Amino acid sequence: MQPKTPQETEVVMSELVLPNDTNLLGNLMGGRLMYWMDIAGALVASRHSGRVVATVSIDNISFRHPVRMGEMLMIKAKLVYVGTTSMSIAIKVYAENMRNGSQVLSNKARMIFVALDEAGNPTPVPPLSPQTEEEIMDFEKEKMRRVGKSC
Ligand SMILES: CC(C)(COP(=O)(O)OP(=O)(O)OC[C@H]1O[C@@H](n2cnc3c(N)ncnc32)[C@H](O)[C@@H]1OP(=O)(O)O)[C@@H](O)C(=O)NCCC(=O)NCCS
Repeated sequence: MQPKTPQETEVVMSELVLPNDTNLLGNLMGGRLMYWMDIAGALVASRHSGRVVATVSIDNISFRHPVRMGEMLMIKAKLVYVGTTSMSIAIKVYAENMRNGSQVLSNKARMIFVALDEAGNPTPVPPLSPQTEEEIMDFEKEKMRRVGKSC
């Protein structure tokens, strides 16, 4: 299988936070945000593998700033590491106040997806070819983290 770069499969998804997405204080509900993050991550994993994918893990999810109704979300999802059948994806969520143009990093998470064949079994994915210094560093860090966890 031909290697792919992280840029080839990167996804930026935009969403407008509507009343139905918020709690009684007018802030975005965490569950709705996780749903959007899951979709953005699955799109990246599907693009890389060309397969149907399943979420197997969501790690290090953090909610740093409340997101208000009427704000725009940009959900950036990028592949950082692949194993044999699994793919680790970094998700960063930015909230933009469209009246004044200010942007904050509101959430981060690390999600792992597995590529599945027609029978629903894990199937190998193409290697990842990180290009930039940051991508190479992220690849090595995630490799250490994954190896450390499996010991
Ligand atoms: C996805 C699934 C078929 C994988 O089956 P499995 O028996 O765990 O398969 P394996 O043990 O061979 O693991 C497959 C890969 O996933 C990784 N993996 C499995 N569970 C993991 C977890 N909790 N955290 C991190 N990685 C995990 C393994 O390390 C392996 O990676 P590698 O091939 O790159 O080395 C099975 O776990 C499943 O159906 N899970 C439910 C998925 C789901 O319903 N998600 C929500 C809706 S999409």
